[in-house]
Amino acid sequence: MAHNSLEPRDSFSSKFGVIAAAAGSAIGLGNIWRFPYILGENGGGAFLLVYLVFIIAIGVPVMMSEFVIGRNAQRNPVGAFKKIRPGKPWYLVGLLGVVSAFIILAFYTVVAGWTLEYLVQSVIWLVSPSKYGFSSMDTAELRNFFTDQFHNFQHGSWRPVIWFGVIMIFTGLIVISGVKDGIEKYAKILMPLLLVLLIVLVIRALTLDGARQGVVFLFKPDFSLIKTSTVLEALGQAFFSLSIGMGTLITYGSYIPRKENLGSTALNVALADTFIAVIAGLAIFPAVFAFNISPDAGPDLVYITLPVIFSKMTAGMVWAFIFFLLLCFAAVTSTISVLEVIVAYFSEELKMKRRNATILAMISVGFLGLLCTFSWNVLSDFRIMGKTVFGLFNASPDILLPLGGLFIVVFVGWIMQKKVVKEELSSNGIYKVRFMNVFIFLVKFVAPLAIAIVFLNGLGILRL
Ligand code: TRP
Repeated sequence: MAHNSLEPRDSFSSKFGVIAAAAGSAIGLGNIWRFPYILGENGGGAFLLVYLVFIIAIGVPVMMSEFVIGRNAQRNPVGAFKKIRPGKPWYLVGLLGVVSAFIILAFYTVVAGWTLEYLVQSVIWLVSPSKYGFSSMDTAELRNFFTDQFHNFQHGSWRPVIWFGVIMIFTGLIVISGVKDGIEKYAKILMPLLLVLLIVLVIRALTLDGARQGVVFLFKPDFSLIKTSTVLEALGQAFFSLSIGMGTLITYGSYIPRKENLGSTALNVALADTFIAVIAGLAIFPAVFAFNISPDAGPDLVYITLPVIFSKMTAGMVWAFIFFLLLCFAAVTSTISVLEVIVAYFSEELKMKRRNATILAMISVGFLGLLCTFSWNVLSDFRIMGKTVFGLFNASPDILLPLGGLFIVVFVGWIMQKKVVKEELSSNGIYKVRFMNVFIFLVKFVAPLAIAIVFLNGLGILRL
């Protein structure tokens, strides 16, 4: 599917396709891996409440802004700013997004690759319960497996590199197939499947003895646990989880047919994303409490704590398999959305064929990803600002996304003509825009201010 100016621009084909693709981008490791551990570290229910407020008051307006820019311009993020505000440096916001896409895709694909290792481990366990897999490992052994055996090339383990490559190639193949025949098609299959698998897991978790405590932890807000850092982490997580702040949804917005309602699309996507995060919590915390494991295990929660839980469950390998399979699906519908930003940029701005653009993007992200996987071995002593390459990349969304998001809402709130914004939100008059003034107030004042606070905090300039 080469794209050139003679061909009509590729687009999504249906309302369900639009929502599946955008929700596919939003729902990912951020919901199932990141959300539970951050919530666990921040006291549970209270975090959830703050998070929900941010999703509605900031997340949805930013998402709508990205859709408005993308659909109005019918371009990749760089081209979109160039088209709407020609001759002004606004296109740099798009460029920042493309750079962020390289960084996020590199570390995210590495984490997604770990999922494949665990998937294979569950199959090995399934086939040969007594000998292999993590069936018999306790927490310490799993930690050792995860950080030493799995990552240490001296043990002959190039597996993280291989798994990274597998996810990268899979992602690339879907993206090469195009927007409608690749991204939309796979999202429509994988997203419903993910929902079913997750519901199966939730039922399993909720029927464990002692599950109740996990539910209480998730839903009962203890306000004494809300700290400034909780508030700021909640906002960062909202950005990451909704895929906002780097032009992913500008790109997807440019593929949304003219007749679709952008406001309700954004609302549906935010709802789906939040719903999945909450039920991921419902799959994880009842199990965590049922087996007396600490909920604040941090980033290890999914990759070290959960396998221990699975190993204690009857038919644990089946649950492990289901869980890591769904994590893998969730990750891939997100990686394609990040890769698409780079591919759309290469093909439209640098006039490359879609296939060549994808291959070039994969090779360059592949190089960065390699540096990330080397963070546990070859490059473990190499530090930038005290962090390994992986550590640096993993921490960067907290700065890059709010910065991008800030410019995006300012652009829609202050720079774009209100008339044009309204035309997009009403799809040229098809829909009544009931909350126009609320939306304008949010993008002009509330969102920029709130984002600025997180951003300054992220840089350490403002310590609240
Ligand atoms: N939102 C995805 C997740 O939760 C990750 C993701 C995809 C993303 N595209 C993005 C994050 C763009 C930030 C920006 O897993």
